[in-house]
Amino acid sequence: MKSQKSVFAVIVVVVVIAAAAVAIAMHGSKKSDTTSSTSSANSTSSTKPTEGSSVVIQGYMFSPGNLKVKVGTTVTWTNRDAVAHTVTADVNSTDAPNSMNIDQNKSYSFTFNKAGTYTYHCTPHPYMKATITVTE
Ligand code: CU
Repeated sequence: MKSQKSVFAVIVVVVVIAAAAVAIAMHGSKKSDTTSSTSSANSTSSTKPTEGSSVVIQGYMFSPGNLKVKVGTTVTWTNRDAVAHTVTADVNSTDAPNSMNIDQNKSYSFTFNKAGTYTYHCTPHPYMKATITVTE
């Protein structure tokens, strides 16, 4: 009876240690998973500029959200939504785009002749925001 009791006690200790080890291992792996998914989300963030000369307006979003072009590039926005959108620079300037309503499947083009970072939005939907980065 006494020896049975001590065997039982050893088993309990082993199980508790094993459970603790599993819990620590799971916690550790969960933590590293969170870290890796966060860093991959950062690397695909829309703040990273995309090279090209066209922007698609679809689903109430400008895509890419940050387009990088060289001075002298003509950028064309095409609206794929059923509702009209605009390309309206946050700062009113002749160096920056400022469109009328762009209807579905219609386009608007603007040539950037000055380097800079141009943030813009859609006038009917001010939460639609994007950036054109113009470099020399
Ligand atoms: Cu809009």
